Amino acid sequence: MFTAPKGTYDVLPERSGRWQRTLEALLAPAVRAGYRLVETPVFEETGVFLRVGEATDVVQKEMYTFEDKGGRSLTLRPEATAGVMRAAIEHHVDRGPLPWKVRYAGPMFRYERPQAGRYRQFWQVGIEALGVEDPAIDAEVVALGARAFEEVGLAGVTLLLNSMGDEACRPAYIETLRSYLRASAGRLCAECRARTETNPLRALDCKNPSCQDALALAPVLANHLCVPCHTHYDEVRGYLDALGVAWVEAPRLVRGLDYYRRTTFEFQHGGLGAQNAVGGGGRYDGLSESLEGPPLPGIGWSFGVERILLALESEGAEDTGRAVCEVYVIPLGAGAKPAVVTLVDELRRAGVHADMTFGDKGMKGAMKAADRSGAQVTLIVGERDLAEGVAQLKHMDTGEQYPVPLAEAATRAAAAAERDQAADDTVDPGQATETEDETE
Ligand code: HAM
Repeated sequence: MFTAPKGTYDVLPERSGRWQRTLEALLAPAVRAGYRLVETPVFEETGVFLRVGEATDVVQKEMYTFEDKGGRSLTLRPEATAGVMRAAIEHHVDRGPLPWKVRYAGPMFRYERPQAGRYRQFWQVGIEALGVEDPAIDAEVVALGARAFEEVGLAGVTLLLNSMGDEACRPAYIETLRSYLRASAGRLCAECRARTETNPLRALDCKNPSCQDALALAPVLANHLCVPCHTHYDEVRGYLDALGVAWVEAPRLVRGLDYYRRTTFEFQHGGLGAQNAVGGGGRYDGLSESLEGPPLPGIGWSFGVERILLALESEGAEDTGRAVCEVYVIPLGAGAKPAVVTLVDELRRAGVHADMTFGDKGMKGAMKAADRSGAQVTLIVGERDLAEGVAQLKHMDTGEQYPVPLAEAATRAAAAAERDQAADDTVDPGQATETEDETE
């Protein structure tokens, strides 16, 4: 038997509704803020990704790289920002109105060791704003991240904020940090000793306790920012405060990709164990130039959809999704089937979610299927009803049943389903439980 490849999973219909609603809700605040949909290929020329992070794990160890039949080296995208920037350069976005604000949702691929919340194919939703350096857009992007979590009803999220400096101040800081790491080499893990030379910043967020001890007094970038970076960071924090977006200063926050400059941030959730980052992002001025594009500063974020679903589950958040069926139609006897097939079609074309019994289930089996469908209203059409030109309309919550003219059955059922749904929506769930308890 074949199974899904290691580190991948199937989203079956039982869960796909919530999955889809979560995706849409996460991006809803960005839609309202003018971030339009962009679609880029799931694979790019390998060079696109090599340019964005040669010194990072994502690029060095985790890429799905392959040669196509034409001998080109291609890579399944490990993230979307590089591809979006490649597209922006290719289509001369810099010559149009700026900021260019886009959103996306799609699968990403990283060859990581799978564990809870870490997959080899996973979904991200994200936004990018290209073309302006204004700290107000940093605040807009970060705040839209915070609003996304509000929109899906996820409460326990902490926003960590840092500035990574820029080419004016970061190189000197990196040398200071490197000297510190060299002097502490005896207490560092093998990986951090290697990072000391290749990418010393990554040592700052090493999880190894001995490295954490060794780095407790390491210099932090926040104290080495140049004046323009400092001013930018101050303004971003000021805007976030004005917007009421809570943040925590995280001077050791280092992101796993190389392209960041200035504002960087991560959203973490407490209910997830080791894979606690539900999303992250930052500013990436300079990425365009490294892809041979014109100056085109940018900032954005990407959120991990699976981790957000896990976090929602850990908070016991209810899925408020609607049932997929509103009106269920049961033919009783073969003679009633043609009328039911057309009735269901009429309902669907009128915009009603409708379904019917297939096969020969009998009345009991058909009513069970009607219950399971979640429909508010069931229409039962027997051969005798047909002869009389009626259908039986049954309200599933009260059990009340009465005949309606067959010609009006679709409109009557649709209206009844809508009324019953509205009535359900206005019932206070607390009160409903109390009443149920009393009758038991
Ligand atoms: P990232 O931090 O590499 O940033 O990934 C963003 C989010 O994707 C993570 O916080 C996490 O929720 C999720 N994620 C990453 N790897 C996995 C995995 N193996 N399994 C499940 N979820 C995962 C980026 O990708 C940047 N493109 C963010 C960005 C946008 N920066 C600027 N603009």
